[in-house]
Amino acid sequence: MDSVLGVLVASLLAFLLVGSAAAARKGTWDGKIVMPKAEEEETSDRAGVRWAVLLAGSAGYGNYRHQADVCHAYQILKKGGLKDENIIVFMYDDIAHNPENPYPGTIINHPEGSDVYHGVPKDYTGQDVTVSNFFAAILGDKSGIEGGSGKVVDSGPNDHIFIYYTDHGGPGVLGMPTMHNLYAVDFVETLKKKHESGTYREMVIYVEACESGSIFEGLLPEGLNIYVTTASNAQESSWGTYCPGMWPPPPPEFYTCLGDLYSVAWMEDVEIQNLKQETLEDQYIIVKARTSNHETYRTGSHVMQYGDINIDVEEMERYLGFDPANENVTKPVLPGVNLASTLMAGKESAVNQRDADLLHLWHKYHKAVEGSTRKAKAGEELVNTMAHRMHLDSSVELIGNLLFGTDVGASTLNAVRPAGQVLVDDWDCLKSMVHTFESHCGPLTEYGMKHMRAFANVCNAGLDATKMASAAEQACSSRAGFWTPISAGYSA
Ligand SMILES: *[C@@H]1O[C@H](CO)[C@@H](O)[C@H](O)[C@H]1NC(C)=O
Repeated sequence: MDSVLGVLVASLLAFLLVGSAAAARKGTWDGKIVMPKAEEEETSDRAGVRWAVLLAGSAGYGNYRHQADVCHAYQILKKGGLKDENIIVFMYDDIAHNPENPYPGTIINHPEGSDVYHGVPKDYTGQDVTVSNFFAAILGDKSGIEGGSGKVVDSGPNDHIFIYYTDHGGPGVLGMPTMHNLYAVDFVETLKKKHESGTYREMVIYVEACESGSIFEGLLPEGLNIYVTTASNAQESSWGTYCPGMWPPPPPEFYTCLGDLYSVAWMEDVEIQNLKQETLEDQYIIVKARTSNHETYRTGSHVMQYGDINIDVEEMERYLGFDPANENVTKPVLPGVNLASTLMAGKESAVNQRDADLLHLWHKYHKAVEGSTRKAKAGEELVNTMAHRMHLDSSVELIGNLLFGTDVGASTLNAVRPAGQVLVDDWDCLKSMVHTFESHCGPLTEYGMKHMRAFANVCNAGLDATKMASAAEQACSSRAGFWTPISAGYSA
């Protein structure tokens, strides 16, 4: 085991190092006496009620950063004046009190950050963090909720809604800490339903995940009054940040990343801006610059906009409220004008989301006392994780070869449709391909979501699930059973 581990760890490190950001209404005389409204009423009248839904889609200490992101977002909304009754939080809630957490009972989202865990409503935690609860909450459908606090977006026609999601993803899917992942088509159908119900004025959605552009590309129509930005385009990873061994690093006791690049980019920007001045577009430009990692895109990604992009002239305040502490801050200077001296001064470094758990396991292994049970266990976990990745990668590759022949198997599975086109035409086909694969090869897990495009391409080629079933059976018949029990342990 030791020599195998040595080789794996050496190649892992090499890989990580190489591979791896109104005018005020006045009293008027029209025969009636109309009193001027107080300023606060004025604002809420225009904005309606501000609602927010925050969701961290992962579990496990190696994914610390996603729940840290969500807790941080909650603190920002509170400072902006949103009420707890209007902020719905979905998170597994296994971080603050995790035995691995060096600061028990707290969560930070920045190396020098203060606790962001205090006060966070525990609306939907543990097994209640599900796709169906998420959709029911958005739709204001109390009867569709199972478990949790029962809080839903009980919004009216003037209200504004902000949705923020952070986790792993893959082409066409977003992860969940419970069994079923969220499919893009179902998310967009939910948004259409919400629009039909006439229960919001406008909505802003921020999504951090690998290939998050694929959730909306070619799928989210204009005209729903929904404005979206995503951490990455439809075919690239998004990035974890504040990771061990990178700059700036977390405090030395942490073996895990504290945040995600796009997520901390928008939140740290909100914290220094006057949201009555900053527009959605201003923020998009600032976040895009930081997430691109100095426009190198080397350890960074392309922030994208979808939906009703014309909404982006609006002030951020409409969605996130306003922190009076920043009342004297002037309109932001946009990158491009003064890029280097503003946010981008420091060298930033990030790790591909999909490798962040390997990084976590490696640091856990590396820092454990020589000869301890902890070290042995961490080593085993690292080896198993890498072996499982190889199993998934090689199974998918083999299936491609079986279905399309060795000469074009890989290129057919990896083909990317032109920008603007939807990932797959038949989403039911995609779901059944995944189901078929999993029943022969074991759960796809967090890492395996990267192969969603391969399954989409099998559908786009017009193949049906019976062909997939026989290929998957051939590829995995001897191995599936071996993987099933393990994968449950570390999809987290
Ligand atoms: C903003 O500026 C005004 C006028 O100088 C001052 O009275 C106020 O305290 C400032 N607000 C903050 C939060 O610094």
